Amino acid sequence: MTVILFAAGDALWPEYEGPLRRALEQAGITADLVCTAAPEDVDYIIYAPGSPLQDFTPYTSCRAVLNLWAGVERIVGNATLTQPLCRMVDPGLTEGMVEYVVGHVLRHHLGMDRYILRATGWQQIVPPLARERRVLVLGLGELGLACARALAALNFDVQGWSRTEKPGLDIPAHHGAAGLETALRRAEIVVTLLPRTAETENLLDAERLSCLPSGAVIINPGRGALIDDTALLAALDAGRLAHATLDVFRVEPLPEDHPFRSHPRVTVTPHIAADTRASSAARVVADNIRRDLARLPLLHVVDRQRGY
Ligand SMILES: NC(=O)c1ccc[n+]([C@@H]2O[C@H](COP(=O)([O-])OP(=O)(O)OC[C@H]3O[C@@H](n4cnc5c(N)ncnc54)[C@H](OP(=O)(O)O)[C@@H]3O)[C@@H](O)[C@H]2O)c1
Repeated sequence: MTVILFAAGDALWPEYEGPLRRALEQAGITADLVCTAAPEDVDYIIYAPGSPLQDFTPYTSCRAVLNLWAGVERIVGNATLTQPLCRMVDPGLTEGMVEYVVGHVLRHHLGMDRYILRATGWQQIVPPLARERRVLVLGLGELGLACARALAALNFDVQGWSRTEKPGLDIPAHHGAAGLETALRRAEIVVTLLPRTAETENLLDAERLSCLPSGAVIINPGRGALIDDTALLAALDAGRLAHATLDVFRVEPLPEDHPFRSHPRVTVTPHIAADTRASSAARVVADNIRRDLARLPLLHVVDRQRGY
């Protein structure tokens, strides 16, 4: 019998147990889904960052570790993990991210705060049409591309940026270091959906932030470390950036006394942009186990060299 260890933490077990059992059954997998097991008996590990399981050495028969999170920066460097690591690509998570990004882009595009906060009385400031608003999405993976497409469907003038070139993509795209500066220079709203890696750490530093047109807005649901906090605060204080909507931070929960908390040009959301949804995520996990049992290639395998 296949042994699947749920090592994503006790807190998630009640939410995931039912959906996982149903998804495994629907996938035709007869398995022992457990929260504890002799390590040498375990075939698959369902994982989440913060799990007490940090030493994978005794899991000698384990064929894959299936992460419930899209971001893998807290596990990818674990030297004891030699098995394939799969990250979460969940349609529910993607839908949530698209809704978050579209919502916050529209807020800034339409200048909603002006009227919600009653800042301007009867001053008629008509926003441009979406087709006249230049949006840049940094990261064209599962989440970035879905957001870019949703914004393009609303007529926004969307461009994207990724590490590798993407010929024939339906969204105009830049790539590499040189492409970033060109892309930033035209961006009125920047959405950051990159993974945290050695290469993306502090990607938006003082120099790159200074490439943005005056009055630009940043929306960061990617990872806190993508932006240099000090440089961001300086650009906001100077009024060069109009606003930053931040969902992710170097330290979470964001400390009460962090300057982002009280800054008038910063909106803090508490890492809620997109959560993995148990019912759809369970189907993704079960499908990957089914594939591996049938000796088909696993999906969403993390490249340890790249770090995502
Ligand atoms: N706030 C939340 O609630 C939440 C929820 C889920 C995920 N996230 C974050 O969102 C991130 C993105 O998720 P995803 O599923 O879209 O990841 P993904 O499918 O792995 O896509 C990552 C994208 O980033 C690009 N990239 C990586 N390193 C780069 C570099 N050095 N320079 C330029 N581009 C680079 C990749 O380029 P290539 O296409 O060329 O490889 C790819 O387009 C996750 O890593 C996580 O940090 C946040």
